[in-house]
Amino acid sequence: MRILLGITGGIAAYKAAGLVRALSELGHEVTVLPTENALRFIGKPTLEALSGHAIDLDLYSDVSAVRHVELGQQADLVLVAPATASFLGRLAGGIADDLLTNAVMAAKAPVVVCPAMHSEMWENGATQRNVRELQSQGVRIMPPASGRLTGEDSGIGRLPEVEDIISFALGPMTLTGKRVLVTAGGTREPIDEVRYIGNSSSGRMGLEIAKAARDLGAAVTLIAANLESIPAGMEVLRVSSVSELEQAMNRGSDLLVMAAAVSDFEVANTYRGKLPRSQAPKIELKPTKDLLAGYAAKHPRTFCVGFALVETGGDIEKTARQKLWDKGCKVVIGNSSKALGATETDVLFVTADEATPLSGSKGTVASEIVSRVSQLLVSQGN
Ligand SMILES: Cc1cc2nc3c(=O)[nH]c(=O)nc-3n(C[C@H](O)[C@H](O)[C@H](O)COP(=O)(O)O)c2cc1C
Repeated sequence: MRILLGITGGIAAYKAAGLVRALSELGHEVTVLPTENALRFIGKPTLEALSGHAIDLDLYSDVSAVRHVELGQQADLVLVAPATASFLGRLAGGIADDLLTNAVMAAKAPVVVCPAMHSEMWENGATQRNVRELQSQGVRIMPPASGRLTGEDSGIGRLPEVEDIISFALGPMTLTGKRVLVTAGGTREPIDEVRYIGNSSSGRMGLEIAKAARDLGAAVTLIAANLESIPAGMEVLRVSSVSELEQAMNRGSDLLVMAAAVSDFEVANTYRGKLPRSQAPKIELKPTKDLLAGYAAKHPRTFCVGFALVETGGDIEKTARQKLWDKGCKVVIGNSSKALGATETDVLFVTADEATPLSGSKGTVASEIVSRVSQLLVSQGN
């Protein structure tokens, strides 16, 4: 996820360093945007080194790039921590007088704000009115924690701990401590040393599933069949053919999501070298192993999720339900061949008890699938 992290000029700004590190370790792309006053509390070099990018706070530098709009619009989530009383007032009043307030107001993504200040400032009528105003605009405000404040005093107003901010901003980390194996992409079965039988899977759904599991705190291993770009924050095993995929799957997991398009056939008479045009071969095919059924039988404690690709016009629910029993899966995602290579998708989430349609971009549908699966995983005590 691309996160724009705003940091404002309160004493707790130093804690934002831990937040940058933790979000980056979870695989998120973090763009740090402090206010001028935040840099009185935490050094620019610290934030630049931790985030891996240079920080330029001048609203009017590199004007042709219109940076405040770019920064706001490319974010999937805007998080401001800590947020000063002054920042709450500026945002609530629509006063865009620095790069951060401009970028936040240009953002289309959800905005989460974590105020931190002395108890008196937090309880001040103006602050409370600004909080209510921001909430009415859809901004999510994380209430400050109670405890030791800047000096000797204590009370409400502390910036909550990093893990609590992450779980408030990103939702509960329901897959923390779980090993999740995701296969994505399409396999290739060699005909000779340069040619293969493949399929038109883009791998997008599998990649989105892996990202969604990572974002819920899972330790993800992605088995990538012929994929170029891979998201950060996960272990990656690159494979090409069904037999390489089978070898890579030889490991335990709490959850397997088999999203790769796996060839049903392999070439029995593979040619060593490159076949010349004059020697057009008769290709003999033999069935490949059913990797999902094999994995489910060998790992009975793993929660297995499969995909069923149904020809256009076919009965998706019937096919998916049949696959549930045939493969030993807990969930089968039924979809039609229209989904191959597309960015939008319509699927049917099928378990023994339900068949729920889900639709939208592959990212949205993947997040919904992973969130539903994680709930089932927890409720079934896996
Ligand atoms: C030592 C010190 C600590 C401060 N801590 C806070 C704080 O925790 N919360 C807050 O709202 N303001 C705090 N302030 C006041 C802000 O720095 C001030 O309102 C500033 O204008 C905020 O700028 P910004 O919102 O653009 O970052 C503090 C000021 C000083 C001198």
